[in-house]
Amino acid sequence: MSVDAAETRQTHVAITLDYQRLSAFALEVVCGVLRQKPDAVISLTTGRTPSGLYRALRQACQAGQVSLATARIICSEEYTGVTIDDPISLFGWLRRDVLTPCDVPLTSALYLAGDAPDPDAECRRFDEQIGRLGGIDLVVQTIGVNGHFGFNEPGTPRDAPSRVAELAPSTRESNAAYWPEQRRVPTTGLTMGLRATLSARYILLLAAGCAKAPALAQALDGPIDDQVPGSLLRLAPHLTVIADAEASQELRLRETVYGLRKCTGPLPGTGT
Ligand code: PGA
Repeated sequence: MSVDAAETRQTHVAITLDYQRLSAFALEVVCGVLRQKPDAVISLTTGRTPSGLYRALRQACQAGQVSLATARIICSEEYTGVTIDDPISLFGWLRRDVLTPCDVPLTSALYLAGDAPDPDAECRRFDEQIGRLGGIDLVVQTIGVNGHFGFNEPGTPRDAPSRVAELAPSTRESNAAYWPEQRRVPTTGLTMGLRATLSARYILLLAAGCAKAPALAQALDGPIDDQVPGSLLRLAPHLTVIADAEASQELRLRETVYGLRKCTGPLPGTGT
């Protein structure tokens, strides 16, 4: 289903020359949110794309330039059946990359337990907890080659709650890179839903590399359509997209429709 473009809110697209600048600019956004609200609720994802941001965030935390000590961190996806101590756990990944090095106590983290005996109830608990936290201040997400974000695959309705979702073949194929050869990527995962994501005060979508160029162009230049979950992010109150030169190479309308921001300019809502 597609909707009228009038439903769109504020979308800003920043094109950076390379991945290093993308990560530095993403760090500015995260730090801007934390400066405004040290106890911000921040949802993070995992994968290749945000790894530069997390490296920069670790360095900034360790240099005392920013603190996550009072922030609440959400991990937005997990594989079904996987415990957090499993080396391929997505929450485990975030714990190693961000929580432990940035001194975020585990008690401040909210995650989907992949090994929960009742995964549907676990997803309901997750959404209730987000409600109790007062909603999410910042969601950091990345786009997949098929336009997905998180495990919200094409066809996900825009009001979908957090839930157990079927992984698309391209998602499993791409994520297999992180799995030991002898283990198969599960066919399902638990994911933060569209409803919680779209009600976040601020969404930061990162896209790096030419493999993401077609999906990013569809998400930003095409209609807002459930078949391209990334396009639904344009329904959020504030969406900032940071893409490197390769990922942005197929964008057509960015300057006229989205108001291209150079990577040195201020970002909406961050006060930086
Ligand atoms: P990535 O992919 O590992 O390239 O960041 C993200 C995704 O497919 O959602």
